[in-house]
Amino acid sequence: MQLENKVAIITGGAGGIGKGIAKAMLKEGAKVVIVDINKDAGQSTMKDLTKFGKTHFILKDISIAEHSTEIIQETIDTFGKLDILINNAHASRQKPFQNTLRDDFDLSFNTGFYPTVNLMQAEEWKQKHPEQYQSMISGIPLGRMGDPEQDIGKAAVFLSSANSSYITGQTIMVDGGTVKLT
Ligand SMILES: NC(=O)c1ccc[n+]([C@@H]2O[C@H](COP(=O)([O-])OP(=O)(O)OC[C@H]3O[C@@H](n4cnc5c(N)ncnc54)[C@H](O)[C@@H]3O)[C@@H](O)[C@H]2O)c1
Repeated sequence: MQLENKVAIITGGAGGIGKGIAKAMLKEGAKVVIVDINKDAGQSTMKDLTKFGKTHFILKDISIAEHSTEIIQETIDTFGKLDILINNAHASRQKPFQNTLRDDFDLSFNTGFYPTVNLMQAEEWKQKHPEQYQSMISGIPLGRMGDPEQDIGKAAVFLSSANSSYITGQTIMVDGGTVKLT
């Protein structure tokens, strides 16, 4: 059990990759708080996940700045502490760059960048991880799609566990080789 008694917040965990990460973390002993704007998917995911461990669903829109402190507080009220933050939620419209409007950029930044910053700036993290920031990206070319639980989830477990305690400030490409860094 690599994450025994750890408490994780996963934004956008009602489906897709976030749900896969939640499952992988629960199986490693973490308690998981899922934050999502989609009530039906969130409740259905809760039913799927409870058999793997302790979960809690927070129905909130992370693009509203004040919700960040409420999410942190509700997590502490529910599980007594927090250890892991997975900034997974992100909404975007896939369009050719020339047709991308201010409203499209706003959607992307308001659901991705700003909530990530707001949640990471909570006082509770400063006491816990003064220097530590971890992040994760996903995508393709090992010839197959990545599996949310087996591929992304296990990498997230590793980054959240004591086995990665000397890794900090890195972007780990869990993308089957899609992005080439030069
Ligand atoms: N799927 C891929 O191939 C892929 C590739 C590269 C990166 N990513 C990234 O991985 C993450 C998850 O991808 P996914 O495919 O599982 O996405 P998804 O669209 O299936 O899931 C995103 C979740 O975020 C929730 N969400 C959206 N806006 C929200 C808001 N304002 N407040 C709260 N919750 C909100 C949605 O309801 C949904 O449950 C995203 O950040 C995405 O950009 C995905």
